[in-house]
Amino acid sequence: MTGRAPYGADPSSIGYDLLPQQDKETNPTMTSSYATRPEGAGDVAAVRDINLAAFPTPHEADLVEALRADPLAWLPGLSWLAEVPGGELVGYALLTRCHVGDAPALALGPCAVKPEYQRRGAGSAAIRAALDAAREQGENLVVVLGHAEYYPRFGFTPASGFGIRPPFEVEDKYMMALALDPARPVPSGVIRYAAAFGV
Ligand SMILES: CC(C)(COP(=O)(O)OP(=O)(O)OC[C@H]1O[C@@H](n2cnc3c(N)ncnc32)[C@H](O)[C@@H]1OP(=O)(O)O)[C@@H](O)C(=O)NCCC(=O)NCCS
Repeated sequence: MTGRAPYGADPSSIGYDLLPQQDKETNPTMTSSYATRPEGAGDVAAVRDINLAAFPTPHEADLVEALRADPLAWLPGLSWLAEVPGGELVGYALLTRCHVGDAPALALGPCAVKPEYQRRGAGSAAIRAALDAAREQGENLVVVLGHAEYYPRFGFTPASGFGIRPPFEVEDKYMMALALDPARPVPSGVIRYAAAFGV
């Protein structure tokens, strides 16, 4: 499968749904604990609010809704929220169905945190909770296109090391993969994203 190249070699130059923005101001270091939970029926608006706040355009918020409406993409229990004490929902991480070759896998993203809570652990909390849930559901391979200095903390390494490649041109280090159970075999081939991603 060949897709259009949605961005160039410099991911900081593009507004894009899978790549993190790279010019955010750094918030003061703060250690917080977050409660995490899967999205429930009453959380749709909160999920949208987080994505609207985290990204410069509604594209990612719309993307989440398109993915939620696609039964081939949406997997119950893999849309996760991080909540601060007091109940405000501030962080979000989504895993949806993709394929590597013909084998089912998961795509991580969008990941989003309300700007005033960024770099305080909310994103990590939501991502770790989503990955844990995926592991418990028997999933194994997860791919992510994103910041090469952020996702390795969760165990992601360049997807090329698994023989996995995206259906578009991107610098190798930004396309990453993680095997939730390293003992299981990992498929290789080209990633087929859910239709909503448009690649
Ligand atoms: C990217 C994002 C989800 C990370 O969540 P977060 O709660 O801010 O990050 P955490 O507190 O879990 O992790 C903090 C670490 O991530 C790094 N980090 C956070 N955002 C980053 C970014 N945009 N680029 C590079 N590194 C980033 C910080 O430097 C920090 O590193 P350190 O622990 O070595 O100091 C969040 O910042 C966000 O919503 N950004 C805007 C939207 C976006 O770009 N989403 C990702 C693409 S789907």
